[in-house]
Amino acid sequence: MTPLLENAVKVATRDSRYDILIQPGLLATPAAWAGLPHAGGATQAVIVSNPTVAALYEAPLRQALAPHYAQVSTVLLPDGEAHKDWQSLNLVFDHLLARGCDRQTVLFALGGGVVGDMTGFAAASYMRGVPFVQVPTTLLAQVDSSVGGKTAINHPLGKNMIGAFYQPARVVCDLATLATLPPRELSAGLAEVIKYGPIADMAFFGWIESNLPALLARDPAALAHAVKRSCEIKAWVVGQDERESGLRAILNFGHTFGHAIEAGLGYGEWLHGEAVGCGMVMAASLSADLGLVDPAFAQRLQALIAAAGLPTAAPAMPASRWLDLMRLDKKASAGEIRFVLIEGPGQATVRPAPDALVSRVIERHSLPPAPAAAAGGTAGA
Ligand code: NAD
Ligand code: GLY
Repeated sequence: MTPLLENAVKVATRDSRYDILIQPGLLATPAAWAGLPHAGGATQAVIVSNPTVAALYEAPLRQALAPHYAQVSTVLLPDGEAHKDWQSLNLVFDHLLARGCDRQTVLFALGGGVVGDMTGFAAASYMRGVPFVQVPTTLLAQVDSSVGGKTAINHPLGKNMIGAFYQPARVVCDLATLATLPPRELSAGLAEVIKYGPIADMAFFGWIESNLPALLARDPAALAHAVKRSCEIKAWVVGQDERESGLRAILNFGHTFGHAIEAGLGYGEWLHGEAVGCGMVMAASLSADLGLVDPAFAQRLQALIAAAGLPTAAPAMPASRWLDLMRLDKKASAGEIRFVLIEGPGQATVRPAPDALVSRVIERHSLPPAPAAAAGGTAGA
């Protein structure tokens, strides 16, 4: 076994096994691209990306794939969460059909979680399934979305509502790509890194607290450890519960509140990681109100989220709107919202909570409503 594969984080579900390769410079490392599905024949590789990421990393990826596939082409989707929809997904299908792509075609998702989730869904459905490889280029995608096989698009009424479980053939995390990530996106990725502490590993949480300045400064060793430990925890969870019949729901800590922020404000207004960061503050506060965890722990978590450059106060929305949005959450059952709560540092549970208590948490952690437009202003514009 090559050292690259020896150091890989392994994901093993009932029906699939794959490696997560984590290292700087993997786009230019031939071993990272050897041994992929359907390599060597008259097969096509299709890179799915967006203009921002393609401008930076499409050329090296094409070069890496050229020795293995007869044709390499690229389809670009519009950038951003607001475009994680049917229209963008169709661009992938249009490209695949126009090029006569068959079942031996392999898709490569080059980008953040938006590109990764859409490419995975396209791969799951094109000709009822073709292989795909995740090449995540955001911190969020490297520590979370590229691993575990959740693929989806958004619906105006709810986040990630249309999708499939479909595992990639490999995940290639080139840590060097994080050098070009805007600071706001780096912070958004840190939200999902921080998440793994309260739900699974308080030693890791302590490590993040101590190493936050190094992470924000993009210290290579700190980023490598953060990505590797996050992937190990995610692989451990997904290996036990691929389809979220139980344990996997803990990965959604902060997401019930967070998805409501994203859908309520309109996709893309807040970054996914920002909404999750604020959502974790609210879920920890709810856990404390329910007597599950010491309020001091909720405050410790809030302090780390704030220090990571993430918002800790939610946008103003009426409580009824929050509750309506959260009732659409995929964990809800028969109209009852179920929250991922912390029942002790490093330990999560999934439970309902009384609406009155939830409303109190929303009020406590929301920004005040914006002042009404002045008379003679542009109300209704
Ligand atoms: P994103 O995909 O929108 O990427 C963020 C921005 O960074 C984009 O503008 C992108 O073009 C740009 N970018 C990407 N890589 C870059 C680089 N190396 N240098 C410069 N710019 C770069 O956002 P994201 O935070 O990566 O992903 C969020 C999405 O992931 C959400 O849709 C969320 O629902 C999804 N998600 C899925 C899972 C899952 O398990 N499938 C888990 C978590 C999040
Ligand atoms: N990000 C949540 C999950 O993968 O289950």
